[in-house]
Amino acid sequence: MLDLRDRFFLPDPPAVELRAFTHGLMPKTVPAMMERFVADWRERGADAWNGVPNHWMPESGDEVGWWSLPEYLGDRFIAPMLGAQAGTCIMQPNAHGAVQGLLSAPEPFAHGRNEVVFTEAEFPSVQHSVRQWAALRGFLPRSVPLGPDGFMDVGALCDAITERTAWVFVSHVGFTTGEKLTDGALRSIADTAHDHDALFAVDGYHATGSSVIDVEAIRADAYFGGLLKEACGSSGNAYLYIREGLNLTPAVAGWFGDADPFGFHPVPQPHPSVRRRFLAGTTAVASLYHAVEGLRVLVDVGFEVVRVDSLAKTELAIQRTEAVGLTLRSPREAERRSAMLILEVENAGALCEWLKTRHIYTDSRQDRYLRMAPFVWNTADDIERTFDTIEEGLRKGLHLRSERHEAAGPAT
Ligand SMILES: Cc1ncc(COP(=O)(O)O)c(C=O)c1O
Repeated sequence: MLDLRDRFFLPDPPAVELRAFTHGLMPKTVPAMMERFVADWRERGADAWNGVPNHWMPESGDEVGWWSLPEYLGDRFIAPMLGAQAGTCIMQPNAHGAVQGLLSAPEPFAHGRNEVVFTEAEFPSVQHSVRQWAALRGFLPRSVPLGPDGFMDVGALCDAITERTAWVFVSHVGFTTGEKLTDGALRSIADTAHDHDALFAVDGYHATGSSVIDVEAIRADAYFGGLLKEACGSSGNAYLYIREGLNLTPAVAGWFGDADPFGFHPVPQPHPSVRRRFLAGTTAVASLYHAVEGLRVLVDVGFEVVRVDSLAKTELAIQRTEAVGLTLRSPREAERRSAMLILEVENAGALCEWLKTRHIYTDSRQDRYLRMAPFVWNTADDIERTFDTIEEGLRKGLHLRSERHEAAGPAT
């Protein structure tokens, strides 16, 4: 099993941090990168838009400035992570913005296409956006229910795709179950969409950083996600991939995505580069300084190795889950498992809070689910200690007696 504790700042006082699925730990290189942001701002001021030292890939000799940073990080870090070509990826402030851009583009709705198909397991960044744009544009949002087992029903999703479908949205990893769709399942959705001339978009938020992703192999037309979680890039750092050759002109493009931004024309002019059209107003550059420090650690090790490690750690956690007699809400099979495990347990909120008092950080949902993601900084001992503690707590009912310390915070 990997032990990359020395590459991250660990909780202080020492604790078992199992919440990579909601916000990764801080890589040790982040403070220096933030000092570089401060120095660039202080020393260069407005000129930083045109040029700053290349802190991200100093060996490359590439020129970089705040203006081009969203595309530069897209080419140098996001595209290799996704198995994509240079020129197809761009940083976004959040996934919501990426989805708004996709849905606002008129091209997929040409020739009377008036439906967007998605699953009821999509995150609100997708579900809300689809419903908002359905009202604005007048298309039908077609939400496909999960199967009776609570997992994605790929057959039902494919059956919902018709010649009226403009877009199909699906999560690579379901945020309520941790179910990871296999490349084969994603390809079958892509092929069905393409057979009907519809476009296929994948929300890869929970796959990012913990999985091997190949956007070409899964035939995605668009793929988006964020670096906040297992990729340890913190907030403000999402990304979007648009397949080479796909022409989209988002109606929400801002002046940073305009073909002639300093012409300040009254009428927008789509940028020749499709990905650049997905920029809105002025880029928030500070977050781009810490964006890829976590990816750097994971790329050093290799995503295949990170995935194998994640499977070994979740396997150990599942064995202990079964031994304690708890029900696993996430898939049992390795190929359908993500980094996140969800356990069904009564009074999950109290258990989560009590675990926190024992310096074990998990997360709970609906007082019924305990969520955890043993990741690259966790050891086998961390996992054993977690389950020893859960076992003891449940057996003696300690969590029910403990005072409420800190309410479980918002974690997604
Ligand atoms: C599947 C999924 N999509 C999107 C998001 C977040 O999107 P946004 O960047 O819009 O906050 C999350 C956050 O937890 C998520 O789990």
